[in-house]
Amino acid sequence: MALKYWLIIATLSAILVRCRVLSSKKELKPSALVYPTPVVLVTSVDENGRPNICTLAAVGILSGKPPHVGISIRPSRYSHGLISRTKEFVVNIPTTDIVRETDYCGVVSGRTVDKFREAKLTQMKAKKVRPPIIKECPVSLECKLKDVIKLGSHDLFIGEVVNVDVDESVLGSSGNIDYGKLSPVTWNPITGEYHGLGKVLGSEGFQKRK
Ligand SMILES: Cc1cc2nc3c(=O)[nH]c(=O)nc-3n(C[C@H](O)[C@H](O)[C@H](O)COP(=O)(O)O)c2cc1C
Repeated sequence: MALKYWLIIATLSAILVRCRVLSSKKELKPSALVYPTPVVLVTSVDENGRPNICTLAAVGILSGKPPHVGISIRPSRYSHGLISRTKEFVVNIPTTDIVRETDYCGVVSGRTVDKFREAKLTQMKAKKVRPPIIKECPVSLECKLKDVIKLGSHDLFIGEVVNVDVDESVLGSSGNIDYGKLSPVTWNPITGEYHGLGKVLGSEGFQKRK
């Protein structure tokens, strides 16, 4: 009798899986695998104004109005202490042209190395914060630290965007950023490889327009 019920349940489950009512997806252990995110170069300064650059992939949009972004940094990073103390940072968006410099700033620490000098990147004065913007990055978001949330391996730094610096070369005819001209870098957290973006697949709302 029990065997009969078991067979019925097994048959029904197989039908539901086939009809995609029951999930047939595999479960992986929980991990923060949001992909793709842009790789960014975050600049900060110490109390004497000495600047540093740190490569980060843990970055995201947090709010539109007023504009906020988030970056997650391990407490062991030199940049973690700098931003905690001086409370300002700039999120610079590098392009595929400077992927080598971007990688370099993610494998050495500003505690021992002047990354602007070694990576041959150029400082430019920001308008509203002390950390410099990076000339070679076409877009830079100047941020004031709003809050820090301790999460575990990384702490989330919430920054209010107080100014955006953009190269004319990545502006479109509307005066806004034309991301097609930007060529950002993304990073695969599984393989550690850097990628550029692919071809345009459609534009926002293209499923609803006639
Ligand atoms: C592609 C890439 C992404 C990275 N993303 C992060 C990140 O999101 N958070 C973090 O704490 N470190 C990240 N790192 C590591 C730091 O960039 C690295 O430890 C750096 O040397 C820290 O510099 P600092 O000590 O001068 O602050 C990343 C490194 C690379 C190469």
